[in-house]
Amino acid sequence: MSTPIFLVKKSDISQSQLASSESLALQAGQVRLRIDLFSFTANNITYASFGDAMKYWDFYPREDEWGVIPVWGFAEVVESLHDSIAPGQRFYGYYPPAAEVVLTPSRISPAGFSVSDGPRGQLAAVYNSYTNCSSDPFHAHGSEAVQCLLRPLFITSWLIDDFLADNSFFGSEAVLLSSASSKTAYGTAFCLSLQPAEQRPKIIGLTSPGNVAFSESLGCYDQVITYEQLESLSANLPCTYVDFAGNAALRHRIHTHFTQLKYSCSVGGTHVQELGGAKGLPGPKATLFFAPAQIAKRRDDWGGAVLNQRLVQSWQAFAQRVAQPGATWMDVEMHSAASANAAYASLLKGQLSPRSGQVWSLSNK
Ligand SMILES: NC(=O)c1ccc[n+]([C@@H]2O[C@H](COP(=O)([O-])OP(=O)(O)OC[C@H]3O[C@@H](n4cnc5c(N)ncnc54)[C@H](OP(=O)(O)O)[C@@H]3O)[C@@H](O)[C@H]2O)c1
Repeated sequence: MSTPIFLVKKSDISQSQLASSESLALQAGQVRLRIDLFSFTANNITYASFGDAMKYWDFYPREDEWGVIPVWGFAEVVESLHDSIAPGQRFYGYYPPAAEVVLTPSRISPAGFSVSDGPRGQLAAVYNSYTNCSSDPFHAHGSEAVQCLLRPLFITSWLIDDFLADNSFFGSEAVLLSSASSKTAYGTAFCLSLQPAEQRPKIIGLTSPGNVAFSESLGCYDQVITYEQLESLSANLPCTYVDFAGNAALRHRIHTHFTQLKYSCSVGGTHVQELGGAKGLPGPKATLFFAPAQIAKRRDDWGGAVLNQRLVQSWQAFAQRVAQPGATWMDVEMHSAASANAAYASLLKGQLSPRSGQVWSLSNK
């Protein structure tokens, strides 16, 4: 039997196809999961853009020129040859954009399991954990689409806010966020806006002209300006740059314009056609934000239980805000196999409204 899987050409990620792959027979210790839904955002495009450099192609490797972009979603066990995992159990985690997947679980606990066989054993642990929905404090029935869209991004948003606060905002009077309309940026702005008013810097969103009104409507930014208007801000403003766009020319303008740039934090690359290196920049070094380092620090500072509790509390506040009646934060856009290629193309070209969140389902559940 064959099953659908979405693939992109590794050497040219604008080429995509919905292919069929053979449904593998289970070996002892393996489980088959039906992937019910998963999100697709600029974050996944970044996985593809850095597929080789950051080993994102290695999670679900293939031997041909086509790559499997990992996605965050929910899946249900439909067949099991593992003693501790039963059909019907549901897990949140890092899946292929496909209708099903065969995994070899290890380190099983009531909270979930890990995958560490083959190349997965060499990859970042954060991507190898599968969380059992029945004991997951993040999980809420009836809102899985919003969860798979925002949860993987919000954890980074929360950690960026925590990292900046933990460093007294590097003495900044303002934090500038590029791609202010992206989900990860608005999660960050949401967390920053909840910092005590007398301590927090001004939150300034930078975005493209068409996304100014949306970014303003989120109510988390103190000011939103277009990329073109950047130089209208005072050159003496002590500030931190949190870079979600990865746009090399924009980064250069920021480092040149602000004579008191205190910190430059590289998080993403939404401007996929404008990415570039950060060599020879004036001011502070552009430093890659490494979420696992801040998690490890807080686990040491607070212990795992307190860290989890704070994260869950913040997530619930954010999820509630996004789902508020009348909130304009997100419209879930559902896609099936029939619309997969077109949906991917519009995401890659940046043609989506920032309000849209794509959720795909390739299984015929
Ligand atoms: N390092 C980490 O741990 C981590 C974790 C999560 C996310 N991230 C990164 O954060 C970034 C945001 O991810 P997201 O999933 O939150 O994004 P998203 O919500 O899908 O972002 C949509 C926004 O990105 C910009 N954009 C998207 N495609 C574009 C294109 N082709 N050309 C120009 N602009 C484009 C537009 O914003 P503007 O008009 O406002 O520029 C658009 O409104 C990604 O690069 C992601 O990799 C990093």
